[in-house]
Amino acid sequence: MASTPVDDTPQGEPLVYVYEAPVRLWHWVNATAITLLFVTGYLIGSPPPSLNGEPSAHYLFGWIRFIHFSCGQIMAVGIIFRFYWSFVGNYFSREIIRPPVLSRKFWKGVMLETKSYALAEHSSRRYVGHNPLAILSMHVLFVWVAVFMVVTGLALYGEGEGPGWIHTVFTGPVLLLFGNNSLTVHTWHHFGMWAMVIFVLVHIYAAVREDILSREAIITSMISGWRKARKVTPID
Ligand code: HEM
Ligand code: HEM
Repeated sequence: MASTPVDDTPQGEPLVYVYEAPVRLWHWVNATAITLLFVTGYLIGSPPPSLNGEPSAHYLFGWIRFIHFSCGQIMAVGIIFRFYWSFVGNYFSREIIRPPVLSRKFWKGVMLETKSYALAEHSSRRYVGHNPLAILSMHVLFVWVAVFMVVTGLALYGEGEGPGWIHTVFTGPVLLLFGNNSLTVHTWHHFGMWAMVIFVLVHIYAAVREDILSREAIITSMISGWRKARKVTPID
């Protein structure tokens, strides 16, 4: 494992610096942006009743769309940055972005963790970062879905904006992929929201549960970066 423990708990267990500051900053900026994207995206799909008065005066839907597009762009830049960091950051920064899918040991770990979650087998394995099953689920259910939301979101944005580079790079190819039907892109972007909502609910439940049951710093590790390392199993 590339990362070296550099501190100890009072009980003499090594502490490992798991999540570097850029990953932590990205996590919380991304989580805030996605929460605002849920609220504003839901309102775009199920708009509130019209208000009295001149729309340009209260600008209600204008603000909803403005917040959605701003957070969407923050999320898009964040994803690009997070990919970049998986190349220059520590061992743990690669885990969910570029999992070791060619390693047999990784897939064995995925199977063993799946059995353990299904209560079919007891797992005594310890991982400092994410376990192989968590890596695989975050890779598919978060990374792929996030990229899908950014690509379809930018395609819809380029459609509203008109000719320009966003239209050329995203709107044209995405519309082609969805049978030249903008409504289908809206619908899939909408489905993506519910996939992401399910991910976030399960993710927060798992983080809180693991924090209590593993008696290790799980939630605070995404704040301070440090985690206690007992005897550890490498993932690949
Ligand atoms: C987790 C991230 C996101 C969620 C949950 C989300 C959710 C939604 C939802 C539910 C809609 C309404 C779709 C409909 O029923 O017609 C929508 C529309 C839209 N979203 Fe997103 N979105 C996300 C990311 C993005 C990103 C990254 C962008 C890119 C800038 C974006 C741009 C748009 C645009 C342009 C529309 C259409 C607005 C309109 O027609 O007025 N979204 N979004
Ligand atoms: C929209 C909301 C959220 C999203 C999309 C999200 C997404 C993610 C992702 C993608 C990771 C992996 C980070 C990496 O390895 O690069 C992660 C890790 C983590 N998140 Fe979140 N998160 C959200 C909210 C939260 C909240 C509210 C909490 C606290 C209760 C939380 C606690 C954590 C913790 C503790 C980890 C590290 C887990 C571990 O090492 O097993 N997250 N999150």
